[in-house]
Amino acid sequence: MQILNTRRHFLKTSAAIAAATTLPQWFLDESSHAATKPLGPNDRPGVALIGCGGRGRGVAREAAALGQMLAVCDVDETNLAQATKTWPDAKPYADFRKLLERDDIHLIINGTPDHWHTLVNLAALKAGKDIYSEKPLTLTIDEGKRLVKAVRESKRILQTGSQQRSDKNFRLACELVRNGRLGKLKHINVWLPHGRREGPFDKMPVPAGLNWDMWQGQTPAADYMKEKTHVTFRYFYEYSGGTMTDWGAHHNDIALWGAGFERSGPVRVEGKSLVAMIPGGFSAASEYELTYTYPNGVTQLIRSTRGNDWKGSVLDKTLQQHGVRFEGADGWVFVTRGRIEASHPDLLTTPLPANATRLYASDNHMQNFFNSLGSRQQPICDVEIGHRSASACHLGVIAVRLGRPLNWNPVAEEFIDDKEANTWLAREMRQPWSYSMV
Ligand SMILES: NC(=O)c1ccc[n+]([C@@H]2O[C@H](COP(=O)([O-])OP(=O)(O)OC[C@H]3O[C@@H](n4cnc5c(N)ncnc54)[C@H](O)[C@@H]3O)[C@@H](O)[C@H]2O)c1
Repeated sequence: MQILNTRRHFLKTSAAIAAATTLPQWFLDESSHAATKPLGPNDRPGVALIGCGGRGRGVAREAAALGQMLAVCDVDETNLAQATKTWPDAKPYADFRKLLERDDIHLIINGTPDHWHTLVNLAALKAGKDIYSEKPLTLTIDEGKRLVKAVRESKRILQTGSQQRSDKNFRLACELVRNGRLGKLKHINVWLPHGRREGPFDKMPVPAGLNWDMWQGQTPAADYMKEKTHVTFRYFYEYSGGTMTDWGAHHNDIALWGAGFERSGPVRVEGKSLVAMIPGGFSAASEYELTYTYPNGVTQLIRSTRGNDWKGSVLDKTLQQHGVRFEGADGWVFVTRGRIEASHPDLLTTPLPANATRLYASDNHMQNFFNSLGSRQQPICDVEIGHRSASACHLGVIAVRLGRPLNWNPVAEEFIDDKEANTWLAREMRQPWSYSMV
């Protein structure tokens, strides 16, 4: 009897162990999305905005027209109040983790500064939310690798906010290149607006209503300076990469699209800063020049231009404007916001043949994201595209900071035989703000 009991107990226990170690996939899938109510065919998705600055609110307005704005979140009460004024029915939150617990929120708009994009996005995926995330998608290449994996595993939709992909001019330029209209592609010129070179800045008391510790998140603890936060954070290496990542996430993205390396990248990167930055001031290179080489020998020159200010508005028409120029053996095409030009007019006016390679077509970036929510098909700027475009920019920032040429393996996503450069793939994260928090 005693033996029987023990054996029965053993069988029960071993069955329990087997079940616990081999949970069926359907159960795992279901549990990972347990925090979100399924969306019926006629339901408007529940939307939440995390990061209520100028861009977040702008993009959220587009999403609010297609879904229901249910929640807004910011670590700064002033910007949070602006958002609640726009959407009085949306519930305000100071911590995105609390907001993500809600089961009626289907998607988030991530309008936080660059150093918060990935941790917020990873937490949202865990809570079963779809994501429209502002560009540059990541702060480091390591973040991007993890994010791509997490999106794929969770089967969520992520649209990167590089909205130039949903602009006809940019698509046309890339289709002309891809279809050999310029002859063999030889070279790409990318001009980015120059950044800001100012400082030193004074430290100041933290304004009432701003959670400065949480604003800084994973970045090194620093004294508060007003230039470090809203909008101008992007000129500090600590939080971003200057215009190389800010505008690079747009124009380098188009260069990769046209050249056909949007899911890969260059194999060699070298470059330099053209001015010394002011100690105690903005820390990301404001003027720079870089050369990239792609696996097929195509080269790309990336230069900052003083023809535009850091917001992209035209400063001096006599100087080169920001944009992308693809140069082939038989001609060139230049594209920027609101303008496309070519070496010969017929390059643009002659229609592409019926059997031409056509690229993913979207004329409205937010609508394209909402279409993907229903179809579960990839949006135009899916996570890998966002990651690779940001990576291309991070490679440039690293090359400038290291001050020497770098050889890159775009398949392994590592520098080749270069231990020092590989330490730049990730940055040290200030605890407790790290991958383990999400
Ligand atoms: N696609 C585009 O054309 C475009 C244009 C402008 C900005 N952007 C991108 O949008 C992002 C935001 O830019 P911005 O100019 O609106 O900056 P911003 O500084 O005005 O806004 C960012 C907001 O996020 C808040 N925030 C910071 N940490 C947070 C956290 N942990 N949780 C919740 N809120 C937090 C800040 O307090 C601030 O209100 C940047 O990544 C930028 O590159 C994209």
